[in-house]
Amino acid sequence: MKIILGVGGGIAAYKSAEIARLLMQEGHAVQAVMTRAAQEFISPLTFAALTGRKTLTDLFAIESAIEHISVAQENELMAIAPATADLIARLAHGLADDFLTTLYLAFTGPVVVAPSMNSNMWRHAATQANLETLRRRGHRIVEPDSGYLACGMTGPGRLADPGAIVEAIERESRRGRDLDGETVLITAGPTQEPLDPVRYISNRSSGKMGYALAEAAAARGARVILISGPVHLAPPRGVEVISVRTAAEMREKVLENLAPAGIVVKAAAVADFHLSKVPEQKVKKTAARMSLELDPTPDILAELGRKKGDRLLIGFAAETQNLHQEARRKLESKNCDMVVGNLVGGSETGFESDENEVVLALSTGELLSLPRAPKREIADRIFDEALKLRLALHAADGR
Ligand SMILES: Cc1cc2nc3c(=O)[nH]c(=O)nc-3n(C[C@H](O)[C@H](O)[C@H](O)COP(=O)(O)O)c2cc1C
Repeated sequence: MKIILGVGGGIAAYKSAEIARLLMQEGHAVQAVMTRAAQEFISPLTFAALTGRKTLTDLFAIESAIEHISVAQENELMAIAPATADLIARLAHGLADDFLTTLYLAFTGPVVVAPSMNSNMWRHAATQANLETLRRRGHRIVEPDSGYLACGMTGPGRLADPGAIVEAIERESRRGRDLDGETVLITAGPTQEPLDPVRYISNRSSGKMGYALAEAAAARGARVILISGPVHLAPPRGVEVISVRTAAEMREKVLENLAPAGIVVKAAAVADFHLSKVPEQKVKKTAARMSLELDPTPDILAELGRKKGDRLLIGFAAETQNLHQEARRKLESKNCDMVVGNLVGGSETGFESDENEVVLALSTGELLSLPRAPKREIADRIFDEALKLRLALHAADGR
């Protein structure tokens, strides 16, 4: 694969030479591009010697007038390591004041960003907001390690291990557009079950996991139908969003849109109970106590389990205890191919968080743990495993 390796002006710039070497060893063609500041730390000659190609450094000292465009078109993936706080800000805001950032804007393929900086620079709200922009754009952020930093501080900000960065690049390159031609149906968010015209029962689901799954599937080339309960999230680019409120509406829309879907991901936190007869007028505060008699809502996942046919069905189990057992139990009782179990309520990951830590119970009997990572990264890992699982199931079927 043809890879652009962008090098920023951080103390870890020298580690980028090892990344170039490892990528070459894996058989990739590497085009190094350095910022002006990066050249204060390491010579362009080092990368030229390792990659066998002239290192690009200057927007205005080039052989062809539109070199940044041709380099963008020729290459398939862009990796930036180390990404300085400054470079991350320029990428997030679309500045194009040197070769690397101009090339970035002209490049349309997948982007992997490996930040490295002092812990305070890393934690700064400006840096975190810029990183969030890059994540939402679908770029893969290789989180820095924690440890002793060159500035003498100990904390997060040390460039991830070159081997881990190369692994992230390879994973990203494999993903490419592997969901091209697929339709993926995803549900997200909570439902709201009315108690009267102004009150409802709901839960703390933010919809972030389902929206991350929709973004990931769309970035991998799928047509994505996202059936969403009420959330405060912007609709992901290129995704068909259908908004619903209650469990009954969600069931109706899921069944209506099931036919074209090859993969169904039920990430929504659907209410289990509702009031079947909702009063037409607002309930007054007259009695000292009141009790509610609730009926079960339709079990959409179980219904899909019965109707799934050849589809891959992925359910979610949000639990506060016994995660592994519950994920497995749900896998079997709902006839799913995969159940993603996550701990919610009181844990740092789960419903409202931008990060998640999950276990995947697979119908092959395997149980995989995915360590804590941004929900967008978890979303991609879920699709990686889902595609592997489908191949394994088809092979077992003899198809
Ligand atoms: C010795 C030294 C080390 C630096 N290390 C880092 C670093 O690790 N991460 C970072 O974000 N900035 C670091 N900086 C600041 C950047 O070099 C500076 O923000 C520069 O403008 C980055 O330019 P670039 O983003 O175009 O490469 C360092 C500066 C100096 C002088």
